[in-house]
Amino acid sequence: MTHNGGGMIARRDLTVRIAARTDLSPTCFRFILETAEEIAAVPGQFGMVTCGAGFDPLLRRALSIAGVARREGVTRVELMVKEVGRGTNLLRHATVGSTLRLLAPLGNGFTLAPVEGTCLGLVAGGIGLPPVLFAAERLAARNVAFDLYVGAASGGELLDVERCRAAAIAVGGDLVLTTDDGSAGEHGFVTAALQRRLDGGQRYGRLLACGPNPMLAALTRLARERALAAELSLEEPMACGVGVCLGCVVELEDGRYVASCKEGPVFSVDRLAARWWP
Ligand SMILES: Cc1cc2nc3c(=O)[nH]c(=O)nc-3n(C[C@H](O)[C@H](O)[C@H](O)COP(=O)(O)OP(=O)(O)OC[C@H]3O[C@@H](n4cnc5c(N)ncnc54)[C@H](O)[C@@H]3O)c2cc1C
Ligand code: FES
Repeated sequence: MTHNGGGMIARRDLTVRIAARTDLSPTCFRFILETAEEIAAVPGQFGMVTCGAGFDPLLRRALSIAGVARREGVTRVELMVKEVGRGTNLLRHATVGSTLRLLAPLGNGFTLAPVEGTCLGLVAGGIGLPPVLFAAERLAARNVAFDLYVGAASGGELLDVERCRAAAIAVGGDLVLTTDDGSAGEHGFVTAALQRRLDGGQRYGRLLACGPNPMLAALTRLARERALAAELSLEEPMACGVGVCLGCVVELEDGRYVASCKEGPVFSVDRLAARWWP
């Protein structure tokens, strides 16, 4: 079962100031959003963000929370964004110092509890990194051991490598980098690197993952074949983020359809219907 960090955390619609934006790769950037309000979020939760002033585009965009910290009366929320279309393009060009609306925290989170006798396996593909890095840093702060697998299309698209390394090293874990084109790290998919280590005898008490759907399907197959516990953060296209529009429904193994913005976005692989592991 996934959890939401020990109880309900009220979501709020806040005005946030863009305090900083930095490029992470040719396609991805980091946003630091500031507010005087307190925000408590756990890894896996997300926010719905306006893409600019006014009503065009009308819909907010769903973005995972990559980190949240409060110091001297200011809450800083970190987002990592890949520019893929109109909304994320507007965000990339939003003026630092201007304000956005952020509805957060939404959804549930990964299960971060340690598993007796094993460590956790964290797996991120591409822009699936933000919730996984947030989990890695929270686990490192609690001294819960994990290995971190991070894959990207090419070396230039591997995001925040030094932070990933620092989090893994803090608990004596490995950082395994992979690229599809072999330009950095191990050549091939991140799930293949995981499989090689499982074949070599490495054991994980629970896998936590976020990434593109083909990666999540491969990971689900791997987890089911080997009876491994695994939780996936799904990124179904979302319009409202609060369970109203039913645009984000996910089919479960018991035949139910649930709103992934409310029951997810984190799901155990054993709850998901077969389309997730064809
Ligand atoms: C819970 C959740 C967390 C997310 N976290 C992040 C994050 O941390 N960082 C980040 O960059 N993105 C994240 N996404 C995806 C992000 O919401 C979309 O990339 C964004 O809405 C696209 O908006 P756009 O207007 O730029 O593109 P659009 O013009 O709406 O779409 C451009 C292209 O992207 C595809 N697309 C749109 N939405 C999604 C989606 N949800 N998943 C996959 N492809 C999509 C479209 O099919 C189209 O091909 C998350 C999505 C969800 C549901
Ligand atoms: S996005 Fe509207 S119900 Fe989930």
